[in-house]
Order: sequence, then structure tokens, then C-alpha cells
Amino acid sequence: MNTAEAKQIPRAEAKQTLKTSGLVLHGAAKYDLTLWFLTLGREKVFRERVLRLARLTPGERVLDVGCGTGTLAIMAKELVGPKGTVCGVDASPEMIARAGKKASKAGVEIVLKNALAEALPFSDGHFDVVLNTVMLHHLPGKLRNQCASEIQRVLRPGGRVLAVDFATSPGERGIVAHFHRHGHISLAEMVDIFNETGLEIEESGAVGIGDLQFVLGVAPCCK
Ligand SMILES: C[S@@+](CC[C@H](N)C(=O)[O-])C[C@H]1O[C@@H](n2cnc3c(N)ncnc32)[C@H](O)[C@@H]1O
Repeated sequence: MNTAEAKQIPRAEAKQTLKTSGLVLHGAAKYDLTLWFLTLGREKVFRERVLRLARLTPGERVLDVGCGTGTLAIMAKELVGPKGTVCGVDASPEMIARAGKKASKAGVEIVLKNALAEALPFSDGHFDVVLNTVMLHHLPGKLRNQCASEIQRVLRPGGRVLAVDFATSPGERGIVAHFHRHGHISLAEMVDIFNETGLEIEESGAVGIGDLQFVLGVAPCCK
């Protein structure tokens, strides 16, 4: 689905959800408003910091898994330029529809698909970079591993994954854990689930905003 098609999801279809045990969000406008409050109106600063960690370069093929309302995907497209491509997938048709409207308004061409993180609709080795921001905590344990192996599968040899989430230290419960049924993920777990897929962890640590932690993994040159 390109940005033009994403605008036209009929209301009835927008209520349907793909079958997943992940926590799928539906109130897309409310989501953007909540982020605005949570970041005190500085969402752009947060997104820029995440994209710096991903080290995007012009011409790269990028996938944003659990892209939500598309803010990060739109900003990523500006970095990869006209020769690069950005695709966003989310289990929520409402999130995809809003991402499409925002991309059209910004005059940015990205590809958006209503699809599951645990069954990515792409061929092996298709992407240079996969982004995964504040999404893993929406998945129950086993699905986190499935999502990580799908990410590994669609990365080309030498490709990178940047995962960011609200990860607190073992034993601690961050604010997000109070709102979500799957709740908490630790940095150690983030490192482990990507390590287990065969990705090499190049860097991990604090993003520098609240509880947010990141993992930057690289697919081995011979997969
Ligand atoms: C907290 S939002 C994060 C959205 C976006 N990455 C961001 O940084 O704003 C988590 C997103 O994951 C999506 N999601 C949950 N389970 C999913 C699944 N199994 N496959 C794909 N997306 C899923 C939700 O619909 C929601 O849009």
C-alpha cells in the first residue's frame, strides 16, 4: 500500500485487526496526542535521536516494524532520500491510515502495509536497516522472539536493526508496565532476543531520554 492508498481505508475495514496476541493500538489520533504530551511537544527531538543511532545513509532500504502513525518512517525517508525507500508495517489499520495521511501531507512517499511483525510480508535479505521503536513491549514473550527472527530474516547480510524500548533494570517496573498487559522488557532481554537470531550486537544502552534503551544489531556478512 502506498501513501495514497493508505488514505482510503474504509471505516468497516479499519475496525478489523489481523490476528495477533500483540497489543494492537486503534486510536491513532489519540496516540499522536499522547506522544505529544509524553515528550512535552519534543517528539521530533526524540525521533532525531533514534535516527542518529540507526546511522541511515542515502539510498538505503528501510523497514519500520510496528510503525504506528508513521512519524519515524516519514523522517527516515527524508534521510535516505529519493534513491532510498522506507516501508512501515503495523497490525492496526487505523495507525496505517493515519501514517498514510501524514506522509501525504508531508509530501513524502513511503510504503505502508497492514501486516504483522511476526510474519513480515517481505523476502529474505530485502532491507538494509530495520527500525523497531517502542513496540517490543506490545508483544508477549514468545512473539518477541518471532518478531526478532523475522527482522533478522528480512535484513541483508551486514544490515542493521535498531530496537528502542522502555527498558528498565531487572526488578524495576517503569511507568509503561502499569499501562500494558505485556508490560516490561529489560535491556538484557532486548540484547538476548536479537543475539539468539544470530545478529551481532554492535552497541546497546540508554537513548538519553527517560527509560528508553536501544540495541543496535548487525546481520553477519554470511547469513
Ligand atoms: C507504542 S506503538 C509504537 C509505534 C511507533 N513505532 C512509534 O515509535 O511511535 C506500538 C505499535 O505496535 C503495533 N503492534 C502491536 N502488535 C503488533 C504486531 N503483532 N505486529 C505489528 N504491529 C503491532 C501497535 O498497533 C502499535 O501501533
